[in-house]
Amino acid sequence: MPAQMKLAKYIANLGYGSRRDVMRMLQTRRLKRRDGTALSEGDVFQHDDLLIDGEPADPPPSSVLMMHKPVGYVCSTKGANHLIYELLPSRFLSRSPVMAPVGRLDLASSGLLLLTDDGKINHRITSPRRHLPKVYEAHLAEDLTGREAEVFEGGTMMLESDVTPLRPAKLEVIGPRHVRVTLTEGRYHQVRRMFAALSNHVTALHRTTIGDLELGDLPPGVWRQLTPAEVKLLTD
Ligand code: URA
Repeated sequence: MPAQMKLAKYIANLGYGSRRDVMRMLQTRRLKRRDGTALSEGDVFQHDDLLIDGEPADPPPSSVLMMHKPVGYVCSTKGANHLIYELLPSRFLSRSPVMAPVGRLDLASSGLLLLTDDGKINHRITSPRRHLPKVYEAHLAEDLTGREAEVFEGGTMMLESDVTPLRPAKLEVIGPRHVRVTLTEGRYHQVRRMFAALSNHVTALHRTTIGDLELGDLPPGVWRQLTPAEVKLLTD
């Protein structure tokens, strides 16, 4: 609980309703401690001790979540397509501050997506100066020619409409049309544009790793809060 923050404001900021709604929840004993005692405005509380309608409260402020983003969802709060927020409880859209994506994955890409409501953590992970490696697996429409690794690793590759060359990227061949690419920057549709520049086409793109954090076996569409040790892996 942030110092001085009253319970109703704290719960309202997590998206459970307006402060007035939460005051009503307090009056009707919907907010309890794990020992079953009802909470009142002004009580000192620990986040992990809170139960709302019998359920643990959503992740506290300054959390980082990982999600397995499925293909066909956009990293945005609005739009005609499915939104990643449909995969979270709907009250997440009312959180303040908002739980924002840390970098993006495009509509047709899947895999490891991070979200946080902490701007400093977000900046720390995405800061262009940190060059945090991100690993993608890509399936291709055409067989590799054999010159991709050299071009990607050269540090001179220019993409159309960019004004600086790409940083060297690593390419590992898994099969004739299946590769693993490690980037240390995040330009718009970068992997797809890198292969398009070599007259190939990415048919499927999946991010497996950011820094030392792996998606692991989290199923598509599922999310979880990172542990403090996992957050440290990304921010140290
Ligand atoms: N590169 C892409 O082309 N798309 C992504 O979503 C991420 C990296």
